[in-house]
Amino acid sequence: METTQIIREINRLRKEKNAVIMAHYYQTGDIQDIADFVGDSLALAQQAAKTDADIIVLAGVHFMGETAKILCPDKKVLVPDMEAGCSLADSCPADQFEQFVKAHPDHTVVSYVNTSAAVKALTDVVVTSTNAKKIVDQLPEDEKIIFGPDRNLGNYINSVTGRDMLLWDGACHVHEQFSVEAILELKKQYPSAKVLAHPECKSVVLALADVVGSTQALLNYAVRSDSGDTFLVVTEAGILHQMQKACPDKNFIPVPPEVSEGSIGCMCNECKYMRLNTLEKIYLCLRDEVNEIHVDAEVAKKAVLPIRRMLQMSN
Ligand code: 13P
Ligand code: SF4
Repeated sequence: METTQIIREINRLRKEKNAVIMAHYYQTGDIQDIADFVGDSLALAQQAAKTDADIIVLAGVHFMGETAKILCPDKKVLVPDMEAGCSLADSCPADQFEQFVKAHPDHTVVSYVNTSAAVKALTDVVVTSTNAKKIVDQLPEDEKIIFGPDRNLGNYINSVTGRDMLLWDGACHVHEQFSVEAILELKKQYPSAKVLAHPECKSVVLALADVVGSTQALLNYAVRSDSGDTFLVVTEAGILHQMQKACPDKNFIPVPPEVSEGSIGCMCNECKYMRLNTLEKIYLCLRDEVNEIHVDAEVAKKAVLPIRRMLQMSN
């Protein structure tokens, strides 16, 4: 089917079925452009919590669909591709995390939203990269804290809050790839460029950043910034779509791009899971109402508490 026809069918179906399409900033531009809502992982959870649609199509990765389903158990939550997982969430199997939590019984458990529902069920409060500092700052100063699963985000939050959270040793395969060398090389070419980095990057990379923040925070900074017009973007390249759309006169360079003649453009700044989703898969899952997210009722009952706590604490 032609793209225009797919879009026409998606538009017909979403109206007919009272469905809403929510897309993460790491989706391809064509998906972001047809979505009813585009946002970071916090905003997607907030939107899911308040939607009155009957069907939510979550164009993102599996844990985002699970979060929406946990918040809206009576709604049908569909994902375009069931294989769209997350290497960070996978780096924290629930049974091993449970042992870790049990070994530190006097600790409060703070988990990044990039986790399975089963890990959230072991958690006291969920955070995203947008609200992690704000939420950790609200916990009593002497509270002992376990943070999982991202060691890079955990290290970063320790550094900006002065905490000494015990970290789970997980990471994202995309953000781990960004190298100091590639950024320094680009800085030679664009000396006044601002470096925008996601806190899932390694601390040596974050040390070079002018701004560290969630996808939404990086986008906000790029829109508001009047200091120069070139930005080196150190996160998944999908975010460039909204940056470019909002600021057509500014120059956004994904790191690492082709930095010199002969070097091959590296696709390691694209999340292979996010990229599994396509317009056609959105159309098919909406048409056939397949790829529905189900969460075990007992797990969901426990997991909803730290997610709701997050939503309250980030207001
Ligand atoms: P955000 O919370 O910034 O949307 O990030 C989600 C994510 O998966 C980062 O890799
Ligand atoms: Fe997970 Fe990394 Fe992909 Fe984000 S970019 S969804 S953390 S694998």
